[in-house]
Amino acid sequence: MRLMYNSDKAISINNLTKYYGKLQALDNVSFEIKRGDFFAFLGPNGAGKTTTINVITGLSNYQSGEVTVFGYNTTKDYLQARRLIGLCAQEFNFDPFLTIHQLLVYQAGYFGVLPHAAERRADQLLERFGLIEKRNVKHRALSGGMKKRLLICRALIHDPEILILDEPTAGCDLELKYLIWDYLTQLNGEGKTIFLTTHYMEEAEKLCKTIGIINHGRIVRIGDKKEVLRDKTLEAVFLEVTGTE
Ligand SMILES: Nc1ncnc2c1ncn2[C@@H]1O[C@H](COP(=O)(O)OP(=O)(O)OP(=O)(O)O)[C@@H](O)[C@H]1O
Ligand SMILES: [Mg+2]
Repeated sequence: MRLMYNSDKAISINNLTKYYGKLQALDNVSFEIKRGDFFAFLGPNGAGKTTTINVITGLSNYQSGEVTVFGYNTTKDYLQARRLIGLCAQEFNFDPFLTIHQLLVYQAGYFGVLPHAAERRADQLLERFGLIEKRNVKHRALSGGMKKRLLICRALIHDPEILILDEPTAGCDLELKYLIWDYLTQLNGEGKTIFLTTHYMEEAEKLCKTIGIINHGRIVRIGDKKEVLRDKTLEAVFLEVTGTE
């Protein structure tokens, strides 16, 4: 079943503030991502990238602000909002008792995909990401890079409109990195909205259309890639706005 979208803004974040105890992780964050954008979200370790993603996907609470996904409020309309997103998290969190194929089919079930379609799609994704021979093993029998592939397959299983990837290429070999780049470019070409965090400037510069940089929980630069870069490299802009050396 396709949902009706009531907005061309894929993600809209307004005045978002989040504390972990006394630590302020997000300080009045506001930005929008348009449908079909390829957004790179950059920032030093601890800047607030994963926290922002956790709020968008409803994994984290927050103290003030509003977040919507295609017009659905991520708190009030949680199920509708969450169904539109595929999340490839920074850390592995797989059910240890399921084979990797079962794990994908179960995940699809959470989002209302019927079993037959889910089984087919799971096999297609496992094939595409070079995991088909591991179809009937549990995730602990996969290498680190293979687990990363599985995270991406799981994010894609319900054919989401928005794909959020938290450092998908960290720890990947070259072949996998290029496979991910190609796949993301293809998905974006098909109209999917992509939200990517990365510490690799080359990756952001090559793939994305829009760049956002966060530092100490505050957005310090955001805009069209060409505007953000002008006559500078992304690394130079990053160092300038984050004050890191
Ligand atoms: N569950 C938590 N409990 C307490 N503090 C947290 C928690 N998760 C994150 N933080 C803190 O919030 C801040 C932002 O962390 P976050 O994980 O969002 O950073 P990040 O930008 O994703 O960094 P990285 O590039 O290292 O992944 C950090 O100071 C971090 O220590
Ligand atoms: Mg993170």
